[in-house]
Amino acid sequence: MNEIIKTEQLSEFVYRFRITAPRIAKKRKAGQFIILRPEEDSERIPLTIADAYPSEGWIEIIFQIVGRTTQQLSAMNEGDTILDLAGPLGQPTHITNFGKCLCIGGGVGIAPLYPIVSALKDAGNSITTIIGARNKSLLILEEEMNARSDRFFITTDDGSKGTKGFVSTVFEKLLSEGEKFDYAIVIGPVIMMKVTTQLIKNAGIPCMASLNPIMVDGTGMCGGCRVTINGETKFACVDGPEFDAAGVDWDELIKRLTSYSVFEKDATEKHQCRLRGMA
Ligand SMILES: Cc1cc2nc3c(=O)[nH]c(=O)nc-3n(C[C@H](O)[C@H](O)[C@H](O)COP(=O)(O)OP(=O)(O)OC[C@H]3O[C@@H](n4cnc5c(N)ncnc54)[C@H](O)[C@@H]3O)c2cc1C
Ligand code: FES
Repeated sequence: MNEIIKTEQLSEFVYRFRITAPRIAKKRKAGQFIILRPEEDSERIPLTIADAYPSEGWIEIIFQIVGRTTQQLSAMNEGDTILDLAGPLGQPTHITNFGKCLCIGGGVGIAPLYPIVSALKDAGNSITTIIGARNKSLLILEEEMNARSDRFFITTDDGSKGTKGFVSTVFEKLLSEGEKFDYAIVIGPVIMMKVTTQLIKNAGIPCMASLNPIMVDGTGMCGGCRVTINGETKFACVDGPEFDAAGVDWDELIKRLTSYSVFEKDATEKHQCRLRGMA
């Protein structure tokens, strides 16, 4: 029984849920995710395990409302149970002492970045973290990220907090000041990952990106999460979700992510109409 034992709203559209899942809490490693289906008529969706506490048997997820299933999940309360929950899935992040690590998170990508920053810090790395969002009300985990970073920067597109601009604005400034990094990881919206990882590649820094293709079964069987890395087909659910950013076919990923947008919009609107009908 995967009971929701704590809920917290982190910003207008972002929630943190603590869920009972003792076996997953014991096994999970940074970078891994679960696939859950909140209710009978929901879709199965992947969400990163943001934190876990094995001795108390719970995991935490942080999710943003973007469509129907995340909307249904956000409406659940403490004491409710998640219908299906499978995990931990995916390959754990490669954690070692790289030296100076650059960790970049955009939007809700900050949530999956947090356990990685924490694990890299515990492995003895020096951590420079840059997190960015459209505006200050969309920023999440500022305190937690700051606490685990040696240097910490915030950017907002509208300048409402931190540096005005994108995460790449701060990265380029650090480079121009002669800053060097041994390793980088970037998680966020696909277009942000495409642009930022290109700059990181140009600076000669090895860089991983955590990809977010559509996932269905999470076991490598359905092909939904197919991505192309260095010309080879990979399944993000079993081979990833992290890959060498320099080898990712970003344009294909962007195209595949928008394939179902008409159906997703329709499902969200129907769900909202049903909710309004109940009011
Ligand atoms: C490995 C992985 C880890 C993720 N971790 C997080 C996380 O920690 N927090 C978070 O907020 N989001 C995370 N996501 C994204 C999350 O899965 C989607 O936001 C969610 O599936 C949207 O479902 P929906 O029905 O609410 O929205 P929909 O209206 O169905 O879709 C909105 C958008 O979400 C994406 N999406 C839809 N269905 C899926 C699916 N089955 N698999 C993947 N993406 C989908 C598509 O880009 C789509 O355009 C992760 C995705 C992956 C692949
Ligand atoms: S989600 Fe089906 S193959 Fe990866």
